[in-house]
Amino acid sequence: MQHDISKDQSSSAALYQRALKVMPGGCSRNTVLRKPHPLYADRGEGCYVTDIEGVRRIDFSNNMTSLIHGHSNAEVISAVTDQLQKGTAFALATETEIQFAEHMCSRNSGFEKIRFVNSGTEAVMSCLKAARAYTGRAKIAKMEGAYHGLYDYAEVSQTSKPANWGDEQKPVSVPVAFGTPASALNDVVVVPFNDIERALSILDQHAEELACVMIDLLPHRVGLIPASPEFVQALRQWTRANGVLLICDEVITFRSSYGGAQEEYNIKPDLTAMGKMIGGGFPVGALAGRREVMDVMDPLADKVLFPHSGTFSANPITMIAGRITMELFDEAAVIKLNLLGEYARSQISEAIRKSNSPACVTGGGSMFRVHMKPEPPINYRAAFQTPEESARLKVLLDYLFDHGIMMINTCSGALSTVMTEQEIDILVEVMMSGFRKIEY
Ligand SMILES: Cc1ncc(COP(=O)(O)O)c(C=O)c1O
Repeated sequence: MQHDISKDQSSSAALYQRALKVMPGGCSRNTVLRKPHPLYADRGEGCYVTDIEGVRRIDFSNNMTSLIHGHSNAEVISAVTDQLQKGTAFALATETEIQFAEHMCSRNSGFEKIRFVNSGTEAVMSCLKAARAYTGRAKIAKMEGAYHGLYDYAEVSQTSKPANWGDEQKPVSVPVAFGTPASALNDVVVVPFNDIERALSILDQHAEELACVMIDLLPHRVGLIPASPEFVQALRQWTRANGVLLICDEVITFRSSYGGAQEEYNIKPDLTAMGKMIGGGFPVGALAGRREVMDVMDPLADKVLFPHSGTFSANPITMIAGRITMELFDEAAVIKLNLLGEYARSQISEAIRKSNSPACVTGGGSMFRVHMKPEPPINYRAAFQTPEESARLKVLLDYLFDHGIMMINTCSGALSTVMTEQEIDILVEVMMSGFRKIEY
């Protein structure tokens, strides 16, 4: 039966009715929507979030992976509060930007230069534009189904479905937004993830037109399956041999190693896009990489190949919050959190086994994702949910939410450093009961 929110007495329902009058869908961000209405946050403390109805939940979403130390970290609050008194944004440079740039470049020897922007979308867009400016070529290649934010080119094929994704030998460039120019679609080459033979054969057909190949090493929407080391090496070799840049989107995966997931693969991409957690809870993006490539943005050059600016880029609030957050996320913290990630994945697997559910868990580092499929999917097409699987996942997600657990809406989780095995044990116990509620 349809829930009538005009009769719903909750404070969240009342807010949502106001919200619907002034925002499309009642929000600025589709990921906050829930049926029959979103729940509104009151406060976050450590790994808990309390909504305005007074219900407290363990937060495994961490604002879609962006809060590596959970909510209201005391050191970040203190430093940001000091900076608030001095000013939040200036049309002057600040030392805070240099300090953060120095810290980030010290984490990875491939980060010869860095620039900050305001979101992951902007970081990816800037990487793609820098690659075009550097190579003088227009096309980009990306993995089928991978999410890289909202830029026209970066979002191609992100929501492909069986009805429009075409032959596996040559995935179709499917637009996300209506009205995406055909020229943008023609400039995006889509390749299957982790399939060396098919990917290289497609890339070969566009070798002289491609500016870059972009990859997320643990792509969430593709199934949160790690890229295979052989696939990544093959892309690195192919790009180098063909004068094409390799871009790693580490907006999520930078958490996996001290210098980003690329360290685990022992590769140096030409450019890396970052965002989310490096902002310490504030809007952020960054691109870093090889000096000659980054220098396409150098405004002091005789000919500036890619003029690049942003009103709030490198604002001192984000710079300070980001630096303190990343300094706290040192080598030891990364290792500890990844161990907790391993614990979570193994305990969830055990719960799946014990409850005899046709489900599985994927992930890596401090992330995990539950699929309503008996075997871990190998790529976007295999991870794509049937209507029955998505209905079962919804039962599980609703059960978790109603029993004090907040997840990312794909049933993925991102751990924070304030979590312990205790929170994982609670999650697993609730998940086990949730699995038993699902009808097959
Ligand atoms: C891998 C990846 N790249 C880019 C983005 C875009 O980042 P933002 O939402 O900050 O624009 C996201 C966001 O979820 C992401 O997961």
